[in-house]
Amino acid sequence: MENRTEVTEFILLGLANDPHLQAPLFITFLLIYLITLVGNLGMILLILLDSRLHTPMYFFLGNLSLVDFCYSSAVTPTVLAGLLNGEKVMSFSVCASQMFFFVVFATVENCLLALMAYDRYAAVCKPLHYTITMTMSKCAWLVIGSYVYGFLNASVHTGDTFILSFCESNVIHHFFCDIPAVMVLSCSDRHISELVLVYLGSFNIFFALLIIWISYILIFVTILKMYSSAGHQKAMSTCASHFTAVSIFYGTLIFMYVQPSSSHSMDTDKIASVFYTVIIPVLNPVVYSLRNKEVKSAFTKILVKAK
Ligand SMILES: *[C@@H]1O[C@H](CO)[C@@H](O)[C@H](O)[C@H]1NC(C)=O
Repeated sequence: MENRTEVTEFILLGLANDPHLQAPLFITFLLIYLITLVGNLGMILLILLDSRLHTPMYFFLGNLSLVDFCYSSAVTPTVLAGLLNGEKVMSFSVCASQMFFFVVFATVENCLLALMAYDRYAAVCKPLHYTITMTMSKCAWLVIGSYVYGFLNASVHTGDTFILSFCESNVIHHFFCDIPAVMVLSCSDRHISELVLVYLGSFNIFFALLIIWISYILIFVTILKMYSSAGHQKAMSTCASHFTAVSIFYGTLIFMYVQPSSSHSMDTDKIASVFYTVIIPVLNPVVYSLRNKEVKSAFTKILVKAK
């Protein structure tokens, strides 16, 4: 009908256009990525090897490490390739798969953070029922459910993006195939797709946030009512690292959402995306291992064994 050429590949503009920045950024991101791999895989090994860590909390934490590992692996290689070559050409299907897997793992991460908040709530507020409410099989089902939900969510959102037709413009002003960055390129009417993204996406986030909020409010109320300071400390120490991780994750998300849309320059968006795609996966193992006595002692035990 019309003389439009269908787009068959995308070009990612990448992180930095300035050639002087590319080498230092490449080295920085490579280092961060290596630390992410070692930190998260190490965490998973540690949890598998030490039977004292075979509890619901560490089961969730091990899965969080797995998800962090996967989702930084879905994004960082593209970023590195882009920094090396300037621009990155990506076929339609590779771009769609990157988007799909990124959303899968980001969604599972979201669900796991909510599950971990619920787990801490059960441990602090209902300690006597804890072993009954949080059985290992229940935890396993909850985690499987998160993955299923992640795949569903990713199918909906990736489908919602790629149902649009792409023609004329194929330059993505971003360093990976993120949904909004791809969506704006479409030449069909994207009204409905955008509504689906915004409403379904924020509904999901706020539902997870609500669980986390309520759990933490109940936890703090319980801690405030405790009489012994030893009880205080124990409860605080098991929640503090999780609370730090949650604040970092949702802090960056909220930073993205609360900006007025006029001030949404692509650059601040890119910085926030760097945060949640590259920095968060490396922070989680750091946050959990440095502040956590059990993880540290499991680690020393393994070192001693290895000698
Ligand atoms: C599902 O994916 C969308 C799009 O990436 C996202 O905004 C939303 O938060 C996801 N749902 C959950 C629970 O993470």
